[in-house]
Amino acid sequence: MLLYAIVYDMGFSFKELFSLKELSFFKKKGSVLGVDIGSSGIKVVQLRKEKERAILETYGEIAVGPYANLGVGQSAKLSEEKVVEVLKDVLREANVKSKNASVSIALKSSFVTIIDIPVVNGKNISEIIELEARRYIPLSVSEVKMDWWILPEVVERSMNNGSDDGNNKRKFAKVLLVAIHKDIISKYKEIISMAGLDISSFEIESFSMIRASTKRETSPVAVMDFGASSIKMSIVDFGIMMASHSITKGSQDLSIAISHSLGVDFNRAEEMKREVGLSDLPEHKEIVSIIEPMLGYIFSEAETIIKNYQKKRGRSINRVILTGGGSLLKGLVPFAVKQLAIEAELSNPFSRTEYPAFLNESLKESGPIFSVAIGLALRGLQ
Ligand SMILES: Nc1ncnc2c1ncn2[C@@H]1O[C@H](COP(=O)(O)OP(=O)(O)OP(=O)(O)O)[C@@H](O)[C@H]1O
Ligand SMILES: [Mg+2]
Repeated sequence: MLLYAIVYDMGFSFKELFSLKELSFFKKKGSVLGVDIGSSGIKVVQLRKEKERAILETYGEIAVGPYANLGVGQSAKLSEEKVVEVLKDVLREANVKSKNASVSIALKSSFVTIIDIPVVNGKNISEIIELEARRYIPLSVSEVKMDWWILPEVVERSMNNGSDDGNNKRKFAKVLLVAIHKDIISKYKEIISMAGLDISSFEIESFSMIRASTKRETSPVAVMDFGASSIKMSIVDFGIMMASHSITKGSQDLSIAISHSLGVDFNRAEEMKREVGLSDLPEHKEIVSIIEPMLGYIFSEAETIIKNYQKKRGRSINRVILTGGGSLLKGLVPFAVKQLAIEAELSNPFSRTEYPAFLNESLKESGPIFSVAIGLALRGLQ
């Protein structure tokens, strides 16, 4: 219990992240803001609750590349001061009025794992988790903020080398454990307050993305977030994140490969990537032949993750949801279907909100870019 108390004091309550509550459960009034500090762009979405609905008030994105003499679509490591500058710019450009910010923390700055915890009769499971977690987190427990969630699955394991006479079986609960280094939290807090916002909560980006991109799913789905620097892949089952992986290639690597192969600068390569994508026109063959092998690698990694999950849990994954700016690559959905041999679709996170009808097309087209920011704002309304 102690851990939860500490975490709760800090404004962390990861426990609510996985419940994917329907809009009708929203309680708070007023506008809320989702802030996604991605490696290539900062995205903000402001929502308001009205009659149990999430109303879209404003949204915006600014690419960070140009603040570091890099291109749009390129990841940039900015100083804290620069991040504050970009954030202030996007808040002003998007005419954001809410100060009440839910903020994403990059998966790469977090530690997320699923562990087996022995269930001991008469002993409080939270105490056992607290003790066991120390063995799994590669950092001193005093350096991290930690939270956990018991997954809806109990496994029985035989303790005497496979003999199953029933006497030596022990029960284990599956627990999703998350930890974030305190230094990372301090850094984010500073950035947010320097930009003039108040922090209402933090959340690891993958959880926000799942909230915005999935509905009440009856069978497991894979969600792939195509960011500029990496692809974050989650398996969602029983409405909960059951696995999380990072593939260390991102959408900017496609542009870099085009730039190197054709001897053009990054900006031109980025334009070519967006214009051509996985086109099947003969005049686009050269560009496609540069990016296809990289995407082939990404999807073979994704296939391994899916197969491992299916093997371990005995539940088949029949659908993948593609999100993140990189998922807007032309032809990516049919390519995913071909590579993974399952259904694929683009996420449509703005569909969780209400907005004027004339925005329909543009919000559908840009939705995947804002999935993390929308998921954060939806959390803020809960
Ligand atoms: N229409 C498009 N076609 C192809 N790629 C696109 C398109 N629009 C954006 N992208 C790519 O999407 C990437 C940005 O996506 P996103 O904003 O999700 O990344 P990020 O959140 O900044 O990165 P990360 O999640 O890795 O930190 C860029 O690399 C950009 O080139
Ligand atoms: Mg991102």
